[in-house]
Amino acid sequence: MRTNEPKVDSSNQSYDFIKYDYDKVNCEEMVQRSSSFKSIIQKRRSIRDFSSDKVSLEAIQNAITTACSAPSGANKQPWHFCLISNSSLKSQIRRSAEAEELKSYKERMSDQWLKDLEPLGTDYNKPFLEEAPYLIVIFKKPYDIVGGKQIPNYYVNESVGIAAGILIAALQNAGLVTLTHTPSPMNFLKELLKRPDNERAYLLLPVGYPKKNAEVPQIYRKQSGQVMTEYF
Ligand SMILES: Cc1cc2nc3c(=O)[nH]c(=O)nc-3n(C[C@H](O)[C@H](O)[C@H](O)COP(=O)(O)O)c2cc1C
Repeated sequence: MRTNEPKVDSSNQSYDFIKYDYDKVNCEEMVQRSSSFKSIIQKRRSIRDFSSDKVSLEAIQNAITTACSAPSGANKQPWHFCLISNSSLKSQIRRSAEAEELKSYKERMSDQWLKDLEPLGTDYNKPFLEEAPYLIVIFKKPYDIVGGKQIPNYYVNESVGIAAGILIAALQNAGLVTLTHTPSPMNFLKELLKRPDNERAYLLLPVGYPKKNAEVPQIYRKQSGQVMTEYF
């Protein structure tokens, strides 16, 4: 029987070994499953025009729980997810994000960066931070604090990046849309959300439905031959 109480004490871990719960999938079903998942995920786009319509809180909570199944360096799970629907908090986040973005667009971004962003039609205005029914802020944890001591985490960026990817896929799979947003520097998020010293804001994701007739840039995606080399 699986006794799955997590043992996540960063200092002194010991694990029992249990039988891996696996139902064999034949090749035909593999292709069918991978192909239908591909169709769902390939429709994902970064949405910057959100409807304020209510969406299922449970679906978002499920997506976050799904993200938490990500692998992580030494199983440290160095992430924390903040889920926000409070209007006044969303307004404060919008104000602070727009202040940082204004500085970035005016002073911080290189000419090349601005040129690369131009076709996407983005600017420092971020109304979606108030319009989307939910915001998720992902924090990474370079270290844990156990008994007042700093205990290091490993491969933090890789681990949290994988969790973020799973979250985005899970949201898409549920029929929600999101934007991977980085209004950098993002220290304001730690202050507004009163997060502890050992957390750093990693990504900010508005989540909801797209506005009716929302538009997206018709981007080009590299084909598999350009990004994959097979060695058979
Ligand atoms: C790490 C990361 C940071 C991003 N930051 C922003 C951002 O701050 N604002 C924004 O509008 N889009 C942001 N994007 C979205 C990209 O512009 C978008 O993914 C890209 O143009 C491809 O479009 P698609 O997501 O619709 O496929 C970010 C994407 C990634 C992966």
